[in-house]
Amino acid sequence: MIYFDNSATTRPYPQVVEVVKRAMEAYYGNPSSLHQKGLEAESVLKQARAVAAQYLGCKPSEILFTSGGTESNNTALKGVAFQYQGRGKHIVTTSVEHPAVYDVCKQLEAFGFTVTYLPVDREGRVSVEDVKKAVTSDTILVSVMHVNNELGTIQPIAEIGAWLRQFPKTLFHVDAVQGVGKVPLRLKEWGIDLASISAHKFHGPRGIGILYKREGLIIQPLLTGGGQEGGVRSGTENLPAIAGLAKAFRLMTEEGSRDAEHIAALTRQLRAGLAAIPEVVINTPEQGSAPHIINLSFPGMKAEVILHALEERGFLVSTKSACSSKKDEPSRVLMATGMDKERALSAIRISLGRENTADEVEAFLAAVKEVSSVSSYRKAKV
Ligand SMILES: Cc1ncc(COP(=O)(O)O)c(C=O)c1O
Repeated sequence: MIYFDNSATTRPYPQVVEVVKRAMEAYYGNPSSLHQKGLEAESVLKQARAVAAQYLGCKPSEILFTSGGTESNNTALKGVAFQYQGRGKHIVTTSVEHPAVYDVCKQLEAFGFTVTYLPVDREGRVSVEDVKKAVTSDTILVSVMHVNNELGTIQPIAEIGAWLRQFPKTLFHVDAVQGVGKVPLRLKEWGIDLASISAHKFHGPRGIGILYKREGLIIQPLLTGGGQEGGVRSGTENLPAIAGLAKAFRLMTEEGSRDAEHIAALTRQLRAGLAAIPEVVINTPEQGSAPHIINLSFPGMKAEVILHALEERGFLVSTKSACSSKKDEPSRVLMATGMDKERALSAIRISLGRENTADEVEAFLAAVKEVSSVSSYRKAKV
């Protein structure tokens, strides 16, 4: 099977698997224990934090290990909301956030917060002007994702961060889960206060991530207990996964730019081939999008039908509605771009990775051509 679903998750680097295994075997001590095994584990933890900080361009003390993107987003949003509710109860976000931000905002509304969900343009991009208009003296947080997970659209994080600098009491959170390793992230330069990162999106282990929290910023913890991770995230550290995450950062430092060029070349090849198939429409903007994601529609067909037809031909891709419980509802993200329902219901996402090849893309294009011309696939009612 050819794996084109790298935005859902990536295959870990073999060296990461090795490091995780070795850490489980050798560093089983609790980093909080005072004896030798504890100190060894603590030293691994310290090294991993330093590696992550170096990759992200911040201080080790600004790295908080969490269980992944979902927890980092929840901690950032709820942590700010509960800490600063006395200052204001308004949050600004976008209509295209991942559910780990969007649904947290919905939950916070139930707790009495007011949330502005900014619209996006046809490419899925929020306007900096709209952010400026939405922020009031009551706004405690602006949360905007870096790279959209369905479309690949890059949001104007640098511009929003630059403008927000004049309002130090309005914090800036970025869900950077889909961007790390794919597009540059400048935490300091862009004035980011909090950022969410997840290792399994860049060939690290599942269930481990980072919440970057700017030095000096106080937020309420989601999990209280033993006081690990600066008191913001209690719980015995998942040391093997943390060591694996650090290994993934090291490998990205060594191989990341070569991989990025390779993936960008594959995406160009994919785009050029798709442009020659009249039955498909590319939804991902050509400019200002991450190099690994291409979202495309097969108008008149149902996304699930296409997904399974491609799977029968050996290709693993994804559709929003396959993982949605309300099967016939189109993607919230695609609908927010003003796309019609039929096109949104026929959308699939291809996400490329470092292991994909030009031959695989060529074979995929042939499969798309074939699938898009099978008239029986059009019978399934959209
Ligand atoms: C943009 C974005 N944010 C958050 C998450 C959640 O990350 P995790 O799977 O590590 O909880 C994802 C995962 O798909 C994502 O794409």
